Amino acid sequence: MTQEEVFKNLIAHAKEYGFIFPSSEIYDGLSAVYDYGQMGVEMKNNIKKYWWEAMVRLNDNIVGIDSSIFMHPRIWEASGHVGAFNDPLIDNKDSKKRYRADVLIEDYLAKLEEKMNKEVEKGKKKFGEAFNEEQFRATNPNVLRSKAKWDEVHGRMTEALNKNDLVELRQIIIDCEIACPISGTKNWTDVRQFNLMFSTQLGNISDEAGTIYLRPETAQGIFVNFLNVQKTGRMKIPFGIAQIGKAFRNEIVARQFIFRMREFEQMEMQFFVRPGDEMQWFAKWKQARLAWHKALGLGEEKYRFHDHEKLAHYANAATDIEFEFPFGFKELEGIHSRTNFDLSQHQKFSGRKMQYFDPETNESYVPYVIETSIGLDRTFLAILSTAYTEEKLEDGEERVVLKIPAAIAPVKMAVLPLIKKDGLPEKAHEIMNMLKIDFNCQYDEKDSIGKRYRRQDAIGTPFCITIDHDTLVDNCVTVRDRDTMKQERVPVGSLWTIMDKKVNVRELLKGLHEDTEI
Ligand code: GAP
Repeated sequence: MTQEEVFKNLIAHAKEYGFIFPSSEIYDGLSAVYDYGQMGVEMKNNIKKYWWEAMVRLNDNIVGIDSSIFMHPRIWEASGHVGAFNDPLIDNKDSKKRYRADVLIEDYLAKLEEKMNKEVEKGKKKFGEAFNEEQFRATNPNVLRSKAKWDEVHGRMTEALNKNDLVELRQIIIDCEIACPISGTKNWTDVRQFNLMFSTQLGNISDEAGTIYLRPETAQGIFVNFLNVQKTGRMKIPFGIAQIGKAFRNEIVARQFIFRMREFEQMEMQFFVRPGDEMQWFAKWKQARLAWHKALGLGEEKYRFHDHEKLAHYANAATDIEFEFPFGFKELEGIHSRTNFDLSQHQKFSGRKMQYFDPETNESYVPYVIETSIGLDRTFLAILSTAYTEEKLEDGEERVVLKIPAAIAPVKMAVLPLIKKDGLPEKAHEIMNMLKIDFNCQYDEKDSIGKRYRRQDAIGTPFCITIDHDTLVDNCVTVRDRDTMKQERVPVGSLWTIMDKKVNVRELLKGLHEDTEI
């Protein structure tokens, strides 16, 4: 099965088992908007908890806030979003479909890559054992022709994007003879800049003055509250403010399930430091954030840093933590050294001082900021796509199992009486009542035990606890491990402690605490 087919299966599975539904499905859905179902919301809450505890609980100098989605419209002028939060768009006059110009070109480049890879595959088949891929790529005329074209188009696109040259972007599309995937024609409009912010009207003001935006990032809610938190919390630099919340972007190319959505959630932290100290903190936060990801146990090789060569005008260092999604390595989190740009801009636009008096140096200054910004939905997708496993078992049976880290799994344990009589359900309820105060548990007595195991595998429940006739005699239960399918007999009296150690987010946090305290 190809990666693409597995990914399709994963999307269908996420819907079938109550993780993620297309939004407004009975009205045929709303593009790039999704709803989290009964399993999805539990898992999302667990990810939030892991992030919040790692940031706010483990670091004495980080506090959290929850700012509103609507903010004063001048904030988005100060931050640069009104002027520069744009995508270059082009319309096909026949299909009336709108595309991001750079994405059309990127798709063209991907096709060239595919062509080169196909040549390599052909070479492999032809030469067998003796095949030398490096040499083949350096000498095969077909590969060289495609590579030269790739370099030329990629170079032109990068330059056009850097210079914001919309005429050149269109010219590349014309020169490469890129056709609309819907109409098949090359009948293109000019390229225009399109702002990604959603706007709406405030209250009873119907003109321009009443236009407000749905925030495109949560960060600005932190910046404008910097002094409120610093003063009321008596915070001393260096300190951080963390926030989890919704953000909205009118993404034109919304693909790959919940990877790029129009309504999504971010978990952001702004860390305020003394000017000049920012590079040292940038390096610390890079390591701390990578450690947070790795502790989830999805595989260390699935992460890599991608340092930005071209920096935004306000940044003096930036990196992405990329994750290997089923469609390749893509950005999961951004870590940015934003200098004092945002606070200075708000100082300028609001006329209020955004300075901090440093009692150690007896100086006032506008602090510098290191930002860590991670997409909650992308983290969800990273975990779900890694966890999704189609397995062939030794007995020839097949199962679909979600190997979600136990601390993140929506349901921690299932309580299953072997049969529906002989006092087993009563005993199972007793055990369920003991566990459910602390853990999200499911009780299930329907169907054979095998079928019930499969249902729990499909939602990623790490442990199944089976109550049988012996339980009534020896007060022991059987605990089945989701991944190994091994079973172990455990006294009911020790069950809570054993389970707690395996499923509590505390265990993830303990490792982090030792390694990465800021
Ligand atoms: N405050 C900085 C900021 O917003 P960003 O790189 O634009 O930076 C940060 O966004 C993170 O938010 C990304 O790394 C990604 O995980 C997530 N994100 C951004 N746009 C998204 C979208 N349309 N859908 C889902 N997640 C998104």
